[in-house]
Amino acid sequence: MPLDDSAAAPANLAALFGPHLTALCRRTEAALQACGFEALLVHSGSLLPVFQDDRTYPFEANAPFKVWAPLWEVPDCFVHFEPGRPPRLLFHSPTDYWYKPAALPQDYWTAHFEIVPCADLSAARAALPSSLARTAYLGEDFGALESWAVGAVNPTRLMRHLDFHRAIKSPYELECLRIASRLGVQGHLAAARAFAAGASEYEIELAFLAGCGQREQELPYNPIIALNENGAVLHYQVLEKRPPPQRRSLLIDAGAEFGGYASDITRTHAATAGDFAALVAQMDRMQQRLCAEVGAGVDWRDIHRLAHRLLAEVLREADLITCSAEEALASGVTRVFLPHGIGHLLGLEVHDAGGFMRSPDGGDIDRPEGHPYLRLTRTLESGFVVTMEPGLYFIEPLLAAARSDARAGRIHWSRVEALRPYGGIRIEDDLAVTATGCENLTREAFAAAGGS
Ligand code: GLY
Ligand code: MN
Ligand code: MN
Repeated sequence: MPLDDSAAAPANLAALFGPHLTALCRRTEAALQACGFEALLVHSGSLLPVFQDDRTYPFEANAPFKVWAPLWEVPDCFVHFEPGRPPRLLFHSPTDYWYKPAALPQDYWTAHFEIVPCADLSAARAALPSSLARTAYLGEDFGALESWAVGAVNPTRLMRHLDFHRAIKSPYELECLRIASRLGVQGHLAAARAFAAGASEYEIELAFLAGCGQREQELPYNPIIALNENGAVLHYQVLEKRPPPQRRSLLIDAGAEFGGYASDITRTHAATAGDFAALVAQMDRMQQRLCAEVGAGVDWRDIHRLAHRLLAEVLREADLITCSAEEALASGVTRVFLPHGIGHLLGLEVHDAGGFMRSPDGGDIDRPEGHPYLRLTRTLESGFVVTMEPGLYFIEPLLAAARSDARAGRIHWSRVEALRPYGGIRIEDDLAVTATGCENLTREAFAAAGGS
């Protein structure tokens, strides 16, 4: 994506990148030392061929590479880092007339690297030290890797040291994430207009892409664009090409990417005023209440538990349960309506690495019992970026299971039936944790764009 996209404000990125890279070099040096390596070699990734054809799947650069350089489109590049020396970027520059080779980068970040063009993998190997016996390699295996004789491939302990610290974003990374949010919000505003005009799921996706100015393969994940009951499928992947006969609701979970960093935004729209629209408003208030709890020192598992307590109250107020909120919580009824985690780390991956680590060497922090899909169990620190994404869905298999056990008597089934055609609700913002609270990247981007 070009840096001069209308929603982007990259003027300060040049000033922020140097300190980001210096800090990255420092923590990589410490990690290498702790794990007994002298150097790091990170691969941007390989092009994966389609079976029985000479085409390849869309390329996705590896996150441990993108943290060094905002290059997400070029396979077979390497960053080689030896403490005490500037990092080297071995840039894949083939001679090719089938595809257009990427031009040598020249941008706000390139002065910090020694950039070496390499026509192919043999040239990359030749540009590296003759022995890589004390070098840790990060990336997937490729045919020639064995002959490179690296010291270790994806050593777990080193990766844990690097991933643990990746949770704390530098000011440069925060700025990339802000821009990704602004781009994503442009897409959401365009998608909301398309929904209001009666578009199909497919047409809403096209509006989203045009709004944020990105191709589907540039996005951090495939958008979830679900009309009506399709909103009950958590990772709905179909894009119906025809609008449904009746337009009731839209759940859109879609983000954009900037500099390799993701936004992850969900909004739910009701076509008309009524019970479902009121429930969306209730969930929005609940989501903001949860956002207000976020700050450094907060155990994320407590936020997840609080979400279920608040959801039980929403279910009570919406007359979706026949029991008290306390009973709905204790009997597991809230998990019928909200089966996923309340949020996750966000950054170079939409579900960023390191969500469970107690410390690099200290094992993992368990999920709360009965909550198998929570993706973050750490205590929040300043600089973490997390999503806050409570939901309330009418998911047939989960409702069927509840109908057949002790939870059946606690659910108000006729209310469920009335709301089931609307699918579900999710409201998701991206939050940068601070010492005293959080910066809501998504709501600030909506406010700046005049939306919500
Ligand atoms: N878009 C995937 C998620 O919200 O986690
Ligand atoms: Mn999402
Ligand atoms: Mn998410």
